[in-house]
Amino acid sequence: MRNSIGLTFTCLIFFVINCFSQQSSNNNKASRAAWWKEAVVYQLYPRSFKDSDGDGVGDLKGIISKLDYLKSLGVDAVWLNPIFSSPNDDNGYDISDYRNIMKEFGTMKDFDELLAGLHKRKIKLILDMVLNHSSDEHEWFKQAKSSRTNPYRNYYHWWPEEKGKPTPRYSFFDVNNDAWKYDATTKSYYLHYFSQKQPDLNWENEKLRNEVYDMMKFWLDKGIDGLRMDAFQYASKDTTWKKYPEGYEKEIIKYYGMGPNLHQYLKEMNKTVISKYNVMTVAEGAGSTLEDAHALVDEDRHELNMAYHFEIMDIGNDPRGYKLTDLKKAFTRWDYSFADKGWLAIFLSNHDVPRMVSKYGNDSLQFRSYSSKLLTTLIMTMRGTPFYFNGDELGMSNIKFNNIDDYRDIATINAYKSIKAKGEDVQTFMDKQKFISRDNTRTPFQWDASPNAGFTTGKPWININPNYKTVNVVTEEKNPSSELSYFKKIVALRKSMPVLVYGDYKVFDIENPDIYCYTRTDGKDKVLVLLNFSTKAFTYTIDKQINTTAAKLLINNYNGVTALTNNKISLKPWQSVVFKINQP
Ligand code: NOJ
Repeated sequence: MRNSIGLTFTCLIFFVINCFSQQSSNNNKASRAAWWKEAVVYQLYPRSFKDSDGDGVGDLKGIISKLDYLKSLGVDAVWLNPIFSSPNDDNGYDISDYRNIMKEFGTMKDFDELLAGLHKRKIKLILDMVLNHSSDEHEWFKQAKSSRTNPYRNYYHWWPEEKGKPTPRYSFFDVNNDAWKYDATTKSYYLHYFSQKQPDLNWENEKLRNEVYDMMKFWLDKGIDGLRMDAFQYASKDTTWKKYPEGYEKEIIKYYGMGPNLHQYLKEMNKTVISKYNVMTVAEGAGSTLEDAHALVDEDRHELNMAYHFEIMDIGNDPRGYKLTDLKKAFTRWDYSFADKGWLAIFLSNHDVPRMVSKYGNDSLQFRSYSSKLLTTLIMTMRGTPFYFNGDELGMSNIKFNNIDDYRDIATINAYKSIKAKGEDVQTFMDKQKFISRDNTRTPFQWDASPNAGFTTGKPWININPNYKTVNVVTEEKNPSSELSYFKKIVALRKSMPVLVYGDYKVFDIENPDIYCYTRTDGKDKVLVLLNFSTKAFTYTIDKQINTTAAKLLINNYNGVTALTNNKISLKPWQSVVFKINQP
């Protein structure tokens, strides 16, 4: 989801964030080393990765056929978007059976083979747990809506019609943004924060919670290595259903996130399930403040272990551009506040946002490749666990559909219906979708230059980006200067230098509008990262505090030698360079 988080930081005085020249303290982080901190996670969107049976939809057998590709990337873990049975109202985020595989994706046998194939290649598997809501086609919901006295009734939230109209609640995907849908059979409304086909589960019901914990054990016992907790910050509801102030939907996370019993449920889940396995547990969405995020993943609290916050995603949604200083300040604020405790996921794109190169880089012919490598450099040199979205390693960019019929995402389609119904400006909406629609990252993976990019022999479920003829795996594997070759190099670099995982981060020249300059330091090594986020070439003077005598170039997104003398470096447009330097 792309929401305005509206973070308020005023009460966070105890975090060392008031002085950007100050270095965050390492506090011997490595002593709390964990596999999930050191891993590079590759997010794989199964629907669009590889189709094995010609139905136009990616599937598990397709992924199995590409396991060696995954291995060649050097990544440590794969996060799969939901693969469970689903009528696909929201591409699998509406689960109708948590213990089965979506028909279009294959069978449980395929899943077992996939897991074994990944493990054989020493790649771990993270699954997407969608537990805030189910599908309305889940047996629990079918039972629940059959009568008011059905034993499953309390698995969901209901508002009987005799109480009058329910207190308004905002729905993300509903055409009228109304989160209460009337059900004629039982003369009641049910709650759905997302689409009408995604009724919210009632976490206040212990029976439901235990049933979910059993299901989680089912997958963990199969040997999966982690869970990404979808929208879980919304799971606990204030069931007094009090009225929210006018305009609350603009700060929705503040109202919906971190409900009254959320921490209690997470502690219970940790005790009953998570603590029994050595797994990565990712909080998708992390409340609306740094404190909320800490509370979810502080190691001493025994809840989850990694925060996947939305502040970076909320920057850059205006097609006219964004300020690099905003991006730097957001990364820096989060890093400094997590320096001693807790752990973050680092990412620039996923299936809910556009392609990173179109949003934060420059997807023109001239700069797409350089800017895409620069963004990859940023992700791979920050502290936190990189979550890298499939296709970004090829430099895939937004498809920018012209026609509403090309879109498949319920978020875009329902927002379009709503705009039309209200008589608002459809063209402005369509122009913006080219930039922000989630379908931009969901187009099929580009394997080669053959028809349909080698993704399917059938008709793809969504159109393929026409740039596949040049932006594809086969072409890029042959080219040592390609985005793909660069990705493999920088993943290997990160994995060879613990300083890139655990080292302290320190930002310099934070007000500079074009250059992102920072160092990473541990007891052994020091690394300098310089990223030119502009289309200008110029000479940049590096802060005097940084000792660049004897600097050794580790990676460069341009070919050729980069001159660095007397702390001056000439940088080309969208150039990124990483040096090993001396400790001061
Ligand atoms: C967050 C997921 O990432 C998004 O794709 C989905 O639509 C919502 N949660 C609802 O499950």
